[in-house]
Amino acid sequence: MAKIVGGIGSSHIPAIGVAMDKGLEDTPYWRDFFQSYVPLRKWFNEVDPDILIIFYNDHGLEMFLDKKPTFAVGTAPEYENADEGWGINPIPPVRGETELSWHIVNELVENDFDPTVCQEIKVDHGLTVPLTLMYPGKDYSKVKVIPICINCERHPMPKLSRSYAFGQQVGRAVESFGGDQKVVVMGTGGLSHQLDGERAGIINTDFDTECLDKMVSDPEALTKYSLEDIVELAGGQGVELNMWMAMRGCLTGKVTEGYRNLIAPISNTAAGIQLLIND
Ligand code: DHB
Ligand code: FE
Repeated sequence: MAKIVGGIGSSHIPAIGVAMDKGLEDTPYWRDFFQSYVPLRKWFNEVDPDILIIFYNDHGLEMFLDKKPTFAVGTAPEYENADEGWGINPIPPVRGETELSWHIVNELVENDFDPTVCQEIKVDHGLTVPLTLMYPGKDYSKVKVIPICINCERHPMPKLSRSYAFGQQVGRAVESFGGDQKVVVMGTGGLSHQLDGERAGIINTDFDTECLDKMVSDPEALTKYSLEDIVELAGGQGVELNMWMAMRGCLTGKVTEGYRNLIAPISNTAAGIQLLIND
């Protein structure tokens, strides 16, 4: 059976992609941030996963306010990115994993989650930035990637409890997939941030730390927060916590924290980094 070896929570700030493109990793602004990925990559390289499932949000590249699936699963053999205006260079195409994608889709529908199926989709910074953080030099040609989008742009959005349950179902689907593939799941985005409006720039590292704590020991405790609470506590884009909840839902084993860091601010955001090992 395919095995989910662990989960990673990571920021997806576009400026990280620009910094990597420009070789700024060792400059004073970026050094601590990029150093944080060194221990994470050590574990990741040792695991050397066959498949990466990446929960991210499409910020408007493919799905904007006019059409917005709550959950969407990529089933394509290959994914490209595109210019979103952030100045991130095009990246080499990302390989898909069609068989497991379809298995996940079938299992989700069978169990009363009804995702949009994307046989063609371009992937935005929500996926490409964390992917390239794990593979510096964009050396990801061996791994197969399954993109899964969660709506974080337009209300109504899924509640944290729904994204967590969705992730649990994705996790069960993976573990019922024949084969001996090693799978790592990623939840991207967050933690606290708001990009526009009167409260633009809000960061709440106390709340972010509570989220990181609860991710390990009691993720269901976070489902007591409504999305209105999250906006209040962690800003309008703090709702990207949904992707972390889905990632955490996939981890059904004994979860131990392999690594964490919280660096704030990076761009407009408190950048959370966490490794959860699924024994
Ligand atoms: C930033 C953060 C995001 O999550 C995003 O999607 C875009 C920008 C930022 O902090 O700059
Ligand atoms: Fe974002």
